Amino acid sequence: MTDVVFLVLLFLHIGGVILWMGAAVLSVSILGPMMSKLSGPTKMEFMKIIGPAFERYNIRNATIAIAAGLILYAYITQVATSLAPTSAGTPWLGVGIILALVAYIVGWVIIRPTNHKLWASMSQSPPAQGSGPTPEAAALQKRLMASSGIQALLLLFALLFMVLGANL
Ligand code: HEM
Repeated sequence: MTDVVFLVLLFLHIGGVILWMGAAVLSVSILGPMMSKLSGPTKMEFMKIIGPAFERYNIRNATIAIAAGLILYAYITQVATSLAPTSAGTPWLGVGIILALVAYIVGWVIIRPTNHKLWASMSQSPPAQGSGPTPEAAALQKRLMASSGIQALLLLFALLFMVLGANL
C-alpha cells in the first residue's frame, strides 16, 4: 500500500532541495559574476533590494530540505523499515547526508555572516559612481563567491550520493 507519510516527506524534501540547489547554482553562475560587472551605487542598490529576500528564501528552503530529510531518514529506519535503503545503499546515503549537513553549515557559518559584513561595509563607505569596491568589500565578495561555489559543489555531490543511496 502507498505510504502517504513517506510520500509527503519525500515531496517536502525534494521540493526544498530543488529550490535550495537552484538558488545556489543561480547565485554562482549568474548573480555573482553579474555583481562584479555592476558599478558602485547600482551594485549597492541591487544588494539592498535582492540581498535580504534572497537570504531568507535560501535559509527557508535549505531548512525545509534538511529537516524533511532528517525526519524522512528517521521514518524509514525506525517506522516504515521496508522503505529503508538496502545495505549497499545506506553508506552512500550517509555520505550524501554528511555533505548536505556541511553545505548547510557553510551557509550559516560563512555565507550568511560574509553577506552581512559586505552589506555593512558597503553602507559605511558607499562606493562612488565609476569607482571599484573598497579592498575590504572586494575581499568579502571574493570570500562570498568562493564559499557559494563550495556550497553548490557540496550540494551537487550530495544529490549524486542521495540518488545512489536510494537506488542501489
Ligand atoms: C541532512 C540532510 C539530508 C538527509 C537526512 C536526507 C535524507 C534522505 C532520505 C532518507 C531519502 C530517502 C532515501 C530512500 O528512499 O531510500 C532521501 C532522498 C533523496 N534526497 Fe536527501 N537528504 C538530505 C539532503 C539532501 C540534499 C542536500 C539533496 C540534494 C542536493 C538531497 C537529494 C535527495 C534526492 C534527489 C532524493 C531522492 C532519491 C531517489 O529516490 O532516487 N538530499 N534523502
